[in-house]
Amino acid sequence: MVRTYPELLSGVDLTPIHRKMSFENFEVTKRNRKAYEISKEYSFNPEGFLYLFGKTGCGKTHLAVSILKSLSPILYPKNVLTEKERQLCDLIEHYEKIKGMKKEADCHRDFYESDQWRYRSAKGFFLKSFHYISRLSDYSGYEAISKMNYINSLKNYDCIVLDDFGMEKFTESVKHYFYMLIDEFYTGQKPMIITSNRSIVEINRIMPGVASRIAEGKVIHLDDIDHRINKGRNQ
Ligand SMILES: Nc1ncnc2c1ncn2[C@@H]1O[C@H](COP(=O)(O)OP(=O)(O)OP(=O)(O)O)[C@@H](O)[C@H]1O
Ligand SMILES: [Mg+2]
Repeated sequence: MVRTYPELLSGVDLTPIHRKMSFENFEVTKRNRKAYEISKEYSFNPEGFLYLFGKTGCGKTHLAVSILKSLSPILYPKNVLTEKERQLCDLIEHYEKIKGMKKEADCHRDFYESDQWRYRSAKGFFLKSFHYISRLSDYSGYEAISKMNYINSLKNYDCIVLDDFGMEKFTESVKHYFYMLIDEFYTGQKPMIITSNRSIVEINRIMPGVASRIAEGKVIHLDDIDHRINKGRNQ
């Protein structure tokens, strides 16, 4: 497991309500422990699909956002590391040669020895499913390249959340848009967290190709109470 550095916390743009959600304020109970533990594990090593489904208010979005916020730092590729290492060593050597620059040399040497320079912060993206569909629908039929460009731009993130999947009406074009997205992430082996009120069995009835690819990853039923109603009662 990668060491954690506060400076290397993952970055993600979130709306005010989602900003409050984190693993720290997720109340773990018997009913949600498994989903919590799998989500934590996924944040250390996001691979493939993580499909979280369950009734409204049970904590799916809370867990998905918590994962995005806690993604482990990413190790730079080898060629970048070689270049960074060379630059750092040159800089240390440079400061060592100049009188009165010992402090700078020590400071850079400490940084070099901390290993932190080998990593960058992970970058997550939170995407509402209906935003995705309306974005793709905005491009008219002949703009297939723009659709693919948009999907490819999503693959640049280290991990994305597709929130509220399955709330939309499954017209033929909506099914096609989901297939495009899921298949691109599947073939590119890019991680994606999906939250939904629908079970994978239901999705399989409507879009077998999509369900089959998702099911190769982790499918978790979050069988918990509606925390929104519970919160309201306690106020
Ligand atoms: N285990 C938990 N501990 C603390 N707060 C929780 C927990 N589960 C859910 N909540 C809170 O309850 C509210 C609803 O949770 P969340 O938005 O994650 O539900 P959801 O499963 O995504 O529901 P929906 O299907 O309607 O989108 C949020 O304010 C969330 O922070
Ligand atoms: Mg939700």
